[in-house]
Amino acid sequence: MSDSPLAERLPNPAAGLVPTLYFPAHLEAAVVAYQDRLPLQAAPEVPTNLSQPCLWFDGEQLQLVAAGGVMQACVATQEVTKRAAGVSLLARACNLAPRQPIRLLDAMAGWGVDGLALQMRGAKVVQVERNPGAWALLHDLRRRFGYSTQPTDLRCADAWQVLQDSPAAAVEVVYLDPMFAPRKKTALPNKRLQLLAQVTNVHPENPSASLQVAQAGPDEGAVVVEPTLGEWIAAAQQVASTRVVVKRRLKDPPMQPSPAWQLKGKTVRYDCYPGLAAALYRTLKV
Ligand SMILES: C[S@@+](CC[C@H](N)C(=O)[O-])C[C@H]1O[C@@H](n2cnc3c(N)ncnc32)[C@H](O)[C@@H]1O
Repeated sequence: MSDSPLAERLPNPAAGLVPTLYFPAHLEAAVVAYQDRLPLQAAPEVPTNLSQPCLWFDGEQLQLVAAGGVMQACVATQEVTKRAAGVSLLARACNLAPRQPIRLLDAMAGWGVDGLALQMRGAKVVQVERNPGAWALLHDLRRRFGYSTQPTDLRCADAWQVLQDSPAAAVEVVYLDPMFAPRKKTALPNKRLQLLAQVTNVHPENPSASLQVAQAGPDEGAVVVEPTLGEWIAAAQQVASTRVVVKRRLKDPPMQPSPAWQLKGKTVRYDCYPGLAAALYRTLKV
């Protein structure tokens, strides 16, 4: 196991909970890849007495477990394959073309379904997820697909920092899928998203709660203020050469700045903004 204590390697508190990864002792070799990001704990079976969500590796796949073991979630590879095979609004929004593989930054990768479906349709996707638990689940999903889990393809990092550090027009497309804004109580988001929100510290019914997180440690009491969606779009436009695509709930209010164009599905829409090169071109034409 790694030398430096895990506490020294913990991410920004805004990234949410760092769940413990439990595994049967004989499977230790299979979970060593996660030791730099998560506390690892051998256990004969999935713990049911925990107050916080945890991860459980059963030898086949990594799962997110909550509510005393009652709720368990993980993405099946078939689900991604099915998503990739269907006529995809997202693929159109990202302007995927069969013979011209685009480079795409999936900046808020989460469970990874969208990004991997785009990868299966030919895009060269880099996925970034800042919560170590969500990153580990995506790492495992990529492993089950036989896809690279190297940091060049999957990063456990703050995408805001990744955007600041990336050169102009580093990729063709940046895809942003933040947690959806609040909506009526009757329509809860799906179970898997609820579970993810428990770990990433974002209440699915109140994402703004994540915008101010009490900082632990020496700066205790300090507040971490996250960029607004408008700031995300502006930063992403500098890094994307052709477009920035933002997933929104269909009925979400229009964003400022207004998107250049939109693609609407039954429940979600994709707001598209020109990337740096396209924006420059438009400026020159005017
Ligand atoms: C709605 S989920 C994305 C779902 C994803 N598109 C999918 O298909 O599964 C949003 C994710 O963005 C991540 N996130 C939020 N802010 C981030 C940041 N600054 N850097 C990296 N990831 C971030 C959250 O941890 C969460 O897992």
